[in-house]
Amino acid sequence: PKVVLAYSGGLDTSVILKWLCEKGFDVVAFCADVGQHHEDFEAVKAKALNAGALKCVVTDLRKEFVTDYIFEALKCNAIYEGKYLLGTSVARPCIAKEMVRIAAEEGASFIAHGATGKGNDQVRFEMCAQALDAKLQCIAPWRDAEFIESFKGRSDLLAYCTKHGIPVDAKPKSNYSIDENLFHTSYESGVLEDANETYEESMFKMTVSPQAAPETSTTIDLEFVKGVPVKLTNKTDGTVKTDPLELFMYANEIAGANGIGRIDIVENRFVGIKSRGVYETPGGTLLRDAHMDLEGICMDREVKRITEGMGIEFARLCYNGFWFAPEMDLIRYSVDYSQRDVTGTVTLELYKGNIIARGRTSPYALYNPDLASMDIEGGGDNFDYNPSDAAGFIRINAVRLKTYAALRAKTQE
Ligand code: ARG
Ligand code: SIN
Repeated sequence: PKVVLAYSGGLDTSVILKWLCEKGFDVVAFCADVGQHHEDFEAVKAKALNAGALKCVVTDLRKEFVTDYIFEALKCNAIYEGKYLLGTSVARPCIAKEMVRIAAEEGASFIAHGATGKGNDQVRFEMCAQALDAKLQCIAPWRDAEFIESFKGRSDLLAYCTKHGIPVDAKPKSNYSIDENLFHTSYESGVLEDANETYEESMFKMTVSPQAAPETSTTIDLEFVKGVPVKLTNKTDGTVKTDPLELFMYANEIAGANGIGRIDIVENRFVGIKSRGVYETPGGTLLRDAHMDLEGICMDREVKRITEGMGIEFARLCYNGFWFAPEMDLIRYSVDYSQRDVTGTVTLELYKGNIIARGRTSPYALYNPDLASMDIEGGGDNFDYNPSDAAGFIRINAVRLKTYAALRAKTQE
């Protein structure tokens, strides 16, 4: 039988590759290019073939990842547990979709991955795969009793490679479990497992620390059309980016250089385990901030309130692996509708980890300076906003509060 293995070129997936061969599988290694930093995909291919793969397919998913996944998340300002911008979560459906496509192309009836049995990624890969092809079967060696028995630690994995002539990287294993893509780099495990322990500054790949960021700020204009970033202008040096992938990579570059987008969180995995993670999401943090600012000027208050709820739900669904679920389609469709008028430009200054709003304009602005003004009475041309009406508005809204206070006073608790 044939299996498509999600292959990274690392120690774990190299062992898994060989182990699947030994089980009698024809293994097609699949490596997704989602913008890992400085990855040498030719070397990854060579490693896969060396470990026994029939072939190794590398697909450049970067463009699709930006437009169909990252921008979808940013459109609803998605954030998990108030902090995490979902950099890994949102990449999984993108990778799984391509994996399912390759399985069909190769006539494979199995897929395999190297995610552990304790995490979110196993859920995401397999839920997405099942949604896209009900007939595919999934192999997760890290949940296989025999596999776990044979590989109790890193030394077992290394010994297996030596035995089978699989070359392993000379460089020692990193102190952290790292997942990288265009959107973010995540760090978990190792010393980070002590939630009260801090990490080394040298760990980060995409950002400098706010302390090390330049003394002079960078000012940019970010233009959106219907909630999607379409133009980034660096007003300090004149650089302009309009291609989605280039724009996003450039946002990473300037936000990273200004120390923007690091977080440290103890989060709740879908499987019920709490996990400590450190993430850097420079460009995503910048674009999300700009997008929220623009919504301020051109989105109705009640539409904003409802789409905020949809952003939280989007985050939960994405985190838990429900990208291809009907409720996710509903949310994405609704969010698109909410973005009809989210068009305009935001000016921001980046400085030592801060994103400082400097101004915003929109042809669809609901903001009416005459209405808001403290110097102008009424609402200008077409509005009869009468401040004296506010007294009744307040009295009627306070009815419930007075009733409640009276009850509290009576019951004395
Ligand atoms: N905790 C984050 C998430 O669940 C990051 C997971 C990182 N994955 C990994 N294979 N290192 O989205
Ligand atoms: C893993 O368990 O493979 C990584 C962490 C996660 O998926 O949550």
